[in-house]
Amino acid sequence: MNLIFLGPPGVGKGTVAKLLLKDLAIPQISTGDLLREAVKENSPLGKEAKSYMDSGKLVPDNLVIDLIKKRISNEDCKKGFILDGFPRTIPQAESLEINNIKIDKVLNFIASKKTIIERLSGRRICKNCNAIYHIKNIPPKKEGVCDKCGGKLIQRDDDKPEAIERRLEVYKKQTEPLIEYYKKKGILVDIDTERPLPNILNDVLNAVK
Ligand code: AP5
Repeated sequence: MNLIFLGPPGVGKGTVAKLLLKDLAIPQISTGDLLREAVKENSPLGKEAKSYMDSGKLVPDNLVIDLIKKRISNEDCKKGFILDGFPRTIPQAESLEINNIKIDKVLNFIASKKTIIERLSGRRICKNCNAIYHIKNIPPKKEGVCDKCGGKLIQRDDDKPEAIERRLEVYKKQTEPLIEYYKKKGILVDIDTERPLPNILNDVLNAVK
């Protein structure tokens, strides 16, 4: 089963993907996580991507398309995968078709702008294992410390107010057209994320059955 999790920044795609890893038994491929790893390693890709990411702009298509193609060719993707945060532009979606990568379902995560801003500004992530928390909604047991690995929780540079506004504009202009693109293909399912987390997880599982 090859899935795409589509939706604005901060809507909860990564949170849901990580919680469903066992049920779906396929890996989550987050372009955001892969790019943040590249930045941490200071690799050539990381050096090029950093300024785009910090300011809330999209990293150029050719870089993320190469990254995804390489990741999908790994053995652990043979039974399927969740693309979390890819595609984000029409050329990225077309690159999947050009490379004969078939998508079974696209889950379109929805929330109001107010909810999204509240989720992004309270988000903290583990520097070590990328686990996702929220200072109010999904807090760690001990403030500032990851429940899973004991790593330090940090705020992402692009979760500062100026970058949040930019990311929402970029989403509207460059990513939202993908909703129509996948609706026309008949594989888009809306997921209302302004519901308790267990209900959201159930909705996603029902949608991919
Ligand atoms: P990326 O890391 O993909 O960021 P994003 O899409 O902007 O998504 P987020 O990670 O911000 O949000 P999410 O929907 O996963 O929400 P989360 O689960 O964390 O990308 C970062 C950057 O990398 C981009 O800006 C771009 O520069 C670059 N990039 C990445 N992919 C690219 C691509 N394909 N092309 C070009 N550039 C690319 O949840 C958010 C918060 O809400 C958390 O605090 C969580 O605890 C809380 N929360 C989640 N669900 C709920 C709920 N149901 N109720 C209450 N709180 C909740």
